[in-house]
Amino acid sequence: MAPFINIVAMLWSLVIINSVCSPRVIINALSLNHYEKTCPSVEDVVAKVVKDAISKDRTVPAAVLRLHFHDCFIRGCDGSVLLESRGGNNAERDGPPNISLHAFYVIEGAKKAVEDVCPGIVSCADILALAARDAVSGGPYWDVPKGRKNGRTSKASETTQLLAPTFNISQLQKSFSQRGLSMDDLVALSGGHTLGFSHCSSFQNRINNFNSTHEVDPSIHPSFAASLKSICPSKNKAKNAGTSMDPFSSTSFDNTYYKSILQKKTLFSSDQALLTTPKTKKLVEKFASSEKAFHTTFANSMIKMSNINGGHEIRKGCRFIN
Ligand code: HEM
Ligand SMILES: *[C@@H]1O[C@H](CO)[C@@H](O)[C@H](O)[C@H]1NC(C)=O
Ligand SMILES: *[C@@H]1O[C@H](CO)[C@@H](O)[C@H](O)[C@H]1NC(C)=O
Ligand SMILES: *[C@@H]1O[C@H](CO)[C@@H](O)[C@H](O)[C@H]1NC(C)=O
Repeated sequence: MAPFINIVAMLWSLVIINSVCSPRVIINALSLNHYEKTCPSVEDVVAKVVKDAISKDRTVPAAVLRLHFHDCFIRGCDGSVLLESRGGNNAERDGPPNISLHAFYVIEGAKKAVEDVCPGIVSCADILALAARDAVSGGPYWDVPKGRKNGRTSKASETTQLLAPTFNISQLQKSFSQRGLSMDDLVALSGGHTLGFSHCSSFQNRINNFNSTHEVDPSIHPSFAASLKSICPSKNKAKNAGTSMDPFSSTSFDNTYYKSILQKKTLFSSDQALLTTPKTKKLVEKFASSEKAFHTTFANSMIKMSNINGGHEIRKGCRFIN
């Protein structure tokens, strides 16, 4: 429960701080043509950097998509996830869930390239939102509303507000609804797990000593559980061990994630939990049978998630506040 108490407290403190000293922080109205006059080439410049990075490293799309998700879920999409720890402050990226955050260099590289053509104009938060869209190439395309500002605060302690892979459906729903996101958004955005990699530590609890009566979580298909156990035999396995999030096609933005849920072959309780209410189950079935429906809903939900507000400056670089 602690994370929810934290976020409620944090939201209230934001409301109070904003209304007392800085009301302009609250709303950065986003628009599709935000940089039309000030930086018309921004989308092409970011797309090129992302494309080049992907051609050298196939793990970049998953990394960039997850960076954007983490950015938006803490303090809104304000680039807070990109800040490095400095002085006495431990930044978000050094909080416990940082185990899989990587490819920061892609966003930093895109920012440098953008600064070369239009210095001081484009926020790192916008660059990350654009890069996340470009990263799911081969999947859906959507126009990214722009005009986000960067925040000046990033705290490792606030990463407890992120969702845990052990969450059940009510915990997932609560966390999404606190950010204005629906159950449909939850099911669609969880489809991000069609890309990327997970460490054993993120699902170890389901396959070793699950509870006092079950060694393995009975909501996992037995043969799949056996294969996970062979990859992650014990809690003390090497730190980097793990497996693809979507074991059947971890680099293509397809709908196999939803097929895997129906077959009880997913890594996290939070994935499998999508079958535990009739409404979410129906949507999983729909996305499993129609990749087009998944792609359309994913794009709309990404736009919603990327609109979560925060921030109030344009950083010179993404790693430090001005
Ligand atoms: C619904 C609740 C969610 C939970 C509980 C969750 C949890 C996790 C966990 C535990 C990992 C693996 C970390 C590791 O062990 O390395 C992961 C990876 C990932 N997540 Fe999620 N996630 C959620 C939603 C999302 C959303 C909304 C997106 C994006 C739209 C997303 C995109 C990703 C991607 C792409 C990876 C792979 C990262 C990589 O390979 O670098 N997740 N997630
Ligand atoms: C993750 O955070 C820990 C501190 O909690 C830090 O020592 C480590 O360097 C960070 N890892 C990455 C990849 O940033
Ligand atoms: C989900 O977990 C929370 C916290 O452990 C618990 O209070 C709640 O009853 C659970 N909900 C469901 C549907 O299992
Ligand atoms: C262990 O988990 C299973 C499946 O969720 C459940 O049926 C069982 O009651 C749990 N056992 C205990 C002791 O909590």
